[in-house]
Amino acid sequence: MSGRKISPNLALDQRVAERRARGERIVHLGFGESRLPVFPPLREALAQGAGRNAYGPVVGAEDVRTAVAGWFDRRALPTAPDQVIVAPGSKALLLALQLVHPGDVLLPTPCWVTYRPQAVLAGKRALGVPVPDECGGVPDPDALRARIRRARTEGRRPGILVLTSPDNPTGTTAGPALVRELCAIAEEEELLVVSDEIYRDLLHDPRRPYLSPAEVLPHRTVVVTGLSKNLALGGWRIGAARFPADEHGRRLRDDVASVASENWSTLAGPMQQVAAYAFAEPPELRARLVADARLHGTVAAAVHERFVAVGATCRPPTGGFYVYPDFEPLRAPLARQGVTDDEGLQLLLEELGVAVLAGRHFGDDPAALRFRAATSMLYGDTREEQRAAQRAVERGEDPLRLPHVAEVLRDLERALAKLTAV
Ligand SMILES: Cc1ncc(COP(=O)(O)O)c(C=O)c1O
Repeated sequence: MSGRKISPNLALDQRVAERRARGERIVHLGFGESRLPVFPPLREALAQGAGRNAYGPVVGAEDVRTAVAGWFDRRALPTAPDQVIVAPGSKALLLALQLVHPGDVLLPTPCWVTYRPQAVLAGKRALGVPVPDECGGVPDPDALRARIRRARTEGRRPGILVLTSPDNPTGTTAGPALVRELCAIAEEEELLVVSDEIYRDLLHDPRRPYLSPAEVLPHRTVVVTGLSKNLALGGWRIGAARFPADEHGRRLRDDVASVASENWSTLAGPMQQVAAYAFAEPPELRARLVADARLHGTVAAAVHERFVAVGATCRPPTGGFYVYPDFEPLRAPLARQGVTDDEGLQLLLEELGVAVLAGRHFGDDPAALRFRAATSMLYGDTREEQRAAQRAVERGEDPLRLPHVAEVLRDLERALAKLTAV
């Protein structure tokens, strides 16, 4: 027996589905999926791509990589198509990077559930470093220096630094000064920076300054992105990576392509057609993205407000669709309900009809009273409800006033009131 388990977020999603099938009401904040309908032109691109049935190049066809390069160009990262690989999801690219680049992996704590198991699969040690107070997704610089020193005295060799901005699970974005400081450490310590920018197009305020580590440290940074979050296409599995332009970057790209060739071969042909359309960002798609980012921001802010209203502390969300509250200020009343750790808190919330994922699943301290609430499942259970939420934003109306959204927020308020009532 390997002892390997199904990812905890998938297990929770399954439990929620079972309870709902039994007719129970449950506020689902437990799964990081963007529950929005497919934008119709993407369907058309998929249909047009049906004829792309050849294997084609491992790294992706030229037209797709040109579109991805353009996407990076427009984000202050001049890119040649040869620096790009497309793949079935950024998850596959992240694992391939871990397999080919030597050294242990420095991870912000908390961080996305998959980085750690991937490090283990790649035979590496995951070295967790706490995030600063101001935001998640990146390690605190002083703690990072200390962790690297300690790792070296233990005979470990840190080789990769993972940064995620905007972040899952905290829904926050690292500011430029912090990114520069972390890049300086990566340079000193000769680390490869893996910058996971899959939520980059979901900044709630598009005027917020965003600095990619690849702008500061172009020769040491691989940027990974995809269409699962910004276009709600998780099930279509489209990811992309941008490698440094120099000789080292080319070698790294060739190594990842080698893993790809022995594993997924290439991104499915019809999905390459979709990627060529989406990464080119025609105006109608830009408009969809801008409106959806506003929807995510509005709902995440509403959920944040409700946690803070009952006394939790929580970094205000600035990107993506998550909040990560800390119920430490409520430790005494929660202890009276028998809750002393994050799993106890997750279970009590589940009993009260709210599904969230305990902080330990993101590498956080199990004794802390923290969890991730994913807010992207609140737009409605049916395609009609989800479209109504999108339409409200398109018309400049408040999506929180839609009856189905208002009702689920009321359910959340009621559950939170009970949580702290004793
Ligand atoms: C931070 C982060 N990176 C990567 C992924 C994986 O995305 P993909 O669907 O491209 O594999 C996710 C999905 O949850 C994520 O939250």
